[in-house]
Amino acid sequence: MRRLCVIPGDGIGAEVTPIAVAALRILLPELQTVEALAGWGCFVEHGCAVPERTLELMRECGAGLFGAVQSPAHAVPGYRSAILTLRQQLGLSVNLRPVRSRPGISPRPGIDLMILRENSEGLYIGREHMTSPDRAIAERQISRQACEILAQRAAQVARQRQTKRITLVHKANVLPLTCGLFRDTCRAVLEGQGLHAQIDERLVDVAALQLVEQPENFDLVVTTNLFGDILSDLASYWSGGLATAPSLNWGEGIALAEPVHGSAPDIAGSGRANPIAALLSAALLLRYHWSLPNEAARLESAVEGFLQEAGGVDFGTQTTERVTDGVLSRLGTLQG
Ligand code: NAD
Ligand code: IPM
Ligand code: MN
Repeated sequence: MRRLCVIPGDGIGAEVTPIAVAALRILLPELQTVEALAGWGCFVEHGCAVPERTLELMRECGAGLFGAVQSPAHAVPGYRSAILTLRQQLGLSVNLRPVRSRPGISPRPGIDLMILRENSEGLYIGREHMTSPDRAIAERQISRQACEILAQRAAQVARQRQTKRITLVHKANVLPLTCGLFRDTCRAVLEGQGLHAQIDERLVDVAALQLVEQPENFDLVVTTNLFGDILSDLASYWSGGLATAPSLNWGEGIALAEPVHGSAPDIAGSGRANPIAALLSAALLLRYHWSLPNEAARLESAVEGFLQEAGGVDFGTQTTERVTDGVLSRLGTLQG
């Protein structure tokens, strides 16, 4: 029996997750779901952004769907973005972020790339301190073990996608120890996998330019945590923007699907939240974690078919409703 822990979070997170759950229920009628708390609202009410119970439920289910959470712009003692705690506590060590041209919403066709982001370390270890009132230091951790896990996952994804080119993205000219260890470890693991793929590398600045100029030249991009964060937002332009960008936080026997976007306080409650990123994140859970490629393809086809017919998603105050109706009704008829 498959179980799913649903963590709606704040703002539009709570508006888009029920739609992705509805899609999963059509595809997997026996799916059991349980809801769990996390985020800023949870912190305000319960004094904790990720309650222990949420971690327990995630571990019990082994699979989750996260909406989005809000973070205040100023530091609040005891508060850290819930998604960071979930990634760290649950060993969700890599993050899959595909970018594909989609009919009606992409600036141009023919783009199909995957960013595989290290999800546990780099500048995200949260070690920042002031050495004086005028100097702040952040530490960046790169470990051989995390790079090996990332590269092994990259090899798995490369086989599944029949990847022709893997691009390691780093900044080893300035950070020879951390980025050097990342590049050398990933390369050694990937070269030992017998893949039919060219293993390439790029400095992150030129990779950013080339993702703008020639996104078709990228296939599987493997990079560190912060570079992956930035490049995945940039590359999401090609799929139609943040509202269409899915991701999967992926660990050993556990995964948490998560749209790349945030809680969008500017549109929360207005009916304008687009559920496509959440729906496509659920498809990643189906394909990569539950190994259900046919169900994943059905969900992706329902989204594509809807976009093809609608020619876009700018429906003003009816976006959530119209995308939901369009995709879920298609999913019903695509069944079997
Ligand atoms: P955001 O992604 O929430 O919004 C950026 C812009 O994109 C906004 O104009 C928003 O209306 C629009 N947008 C985003 N998702 C959309 C959707 N599904 N449909 C339609 N429009 C959409 O980023 P932000 O404004 O920088 O951050 C808002 C809050 O979200 C902050 O508190 C930030 O910390 C948090 N955040 C959380 C996550 C997460 O939980 N994974 C990710 C990013 C930002
Ligand atoms: C993302 C988000 C998070 C990150 C934030 C909300 C901590 O931007 O999932 O890309 O930086 O990883
Ligand atoms: Mn981000």
